[in-house]
Amino acid sequence: MSERAAKLIFWVGTLSSLALFLGLTWDTHRSFAALTHADKLDANVVAGKHVFENHNCNDCHTILGFGGYYAPDLTRAYKRLGEDAVRLRLASPEKAFASSYRKMPQQHLTPVEIDRLVDFLRWVGGIDNHDWPPQDSDTRWKASTRRLVGGAAMSPGAALVSQEACLACHALGNAGEHRGPRLEYVATRRDADWIARYLADPQALTPGSTMPKFDHLSEGQRQAIAEFVASLAEGRTP
Ligand code: HEC
Ligand code: HEC
Repeated sequence: MSERAAKLIFWVGTLSSLALFLGLTWDTHRSFAALTHADKLDANVVAGKHVFENHNCNDCHTILGFGGYYAPDLTRAYKRLGEDAVRLRLASPEKAFASSYRKMPQQHLTPVEIDRLVDFLRWVGGIDNHDWPPQDSDTRWKASTRRLVGGAAMSPGAALVSQEACLACHALGNAGEHRGPRLEYVATRRDADWIARYLADPQALTPGSTMPKFDHLSEGQRQAIAEFVASLAEGRTP
C-alpha cells in the first residue's frame, strides 16, 4: 500500500468516526429532556431525591446502576412493586420483609418523607434509560402476555387470574395496573405454596398488606392461580 493510500484510510476512518461520535453525542443531549421526562421533574421529585440522599438509601440500593449492590435496584421499583407496596416497604420494612433473609432497616421516615420518596421513585421509574440496567422492558414481558391470553383456554390458573381481575391491581405482561407488584416479579421471589397461602390471607404473611383476601375461592383454585403465577419466572414452564 502506498503511503498516500495509508494516510487516506487513516484520515477518512478517523474523521468519519469523530463525526459519528459527535453526531450521536449531540443527538443524545438533544433528547435528554424527553428521555428523562424533565417536564415532570417538579419540586416534590427534587425533595424526594434529598430524602433519598439524607437516608443514604444508595448505601444499599442502586438507581440507574449507581449505588450499593446489597439490595435491589430501585430504578423500576415503582413500576415493579406498585405504589401501595412501595409505601408499605418504606413505612414498615420490618413487617414487609419479615420472611426475608436480607433485611431493610426501619428508618422512621415521616409520612411526608414517604410521599416525597414515592414521587421520586415514580419519576425515576419513568426515565427512558433504553433498558439499562436491563429490567422490566416491555419486550421482556411479551412471552407472559402470550401465556396469559393463550393459556386462559387451557390453564385453569390463567383463567382464574382473568376471572378474579388480578390485573386490576397487578401488571402482567403488557397489561394491568401498578397498585401491587408485577406478577412476573412476584414469581422471582415466591414459590407456589407461599402464593397459595398468601391468597387465602395476605395479612397473615405480610402484616400491613393491602391486598384483598381470596378466601371465597377453593383451596384448589388458589393453588391453580399460585402455580400459574409462580410459572411466570423466567426459564420455568407452567
Ligand atoms: C442497610 C441497607 C438498606 C438501606 C439503607 C435501605 N434499604 Fe431498601 N432494601 C434493603 C434490602 C436488603 C431490601 C430487600 C429485602 C428483600 O427483598 O428481601 C430492600 C428493599 C427495598 C425496596 C423494595 C424493592 C424491591 O424490588 O422489592 C424498596 C422500595 C426500598 N428498599 C427502598 C429504600 C429506600 C427509599 C431507602 C432509603 C430511605 C432504603 N430502601 C434504604 C436494604 C436497605
Ligand atoms: C385491589 C387490588 C389487588 C387485587 C385485586 C389483587 N392484588 Fe395482589 N396485591 C395487591 C397489593 C397492593 C399488593 C402488595 C401488598 C404489599 O404491600 O406487600 C399485592 C400483593 C400480592 C402478592 C404478594 C407479592 C409479594 O411478593 O409479597 C401476590 C402473590 C399477589 N398480590 C397476587 C395476586 C393475585 C394472584 C391476584 C388475583 C387473584 C391479586 N393479587 C389481586 C393488590 C391487589
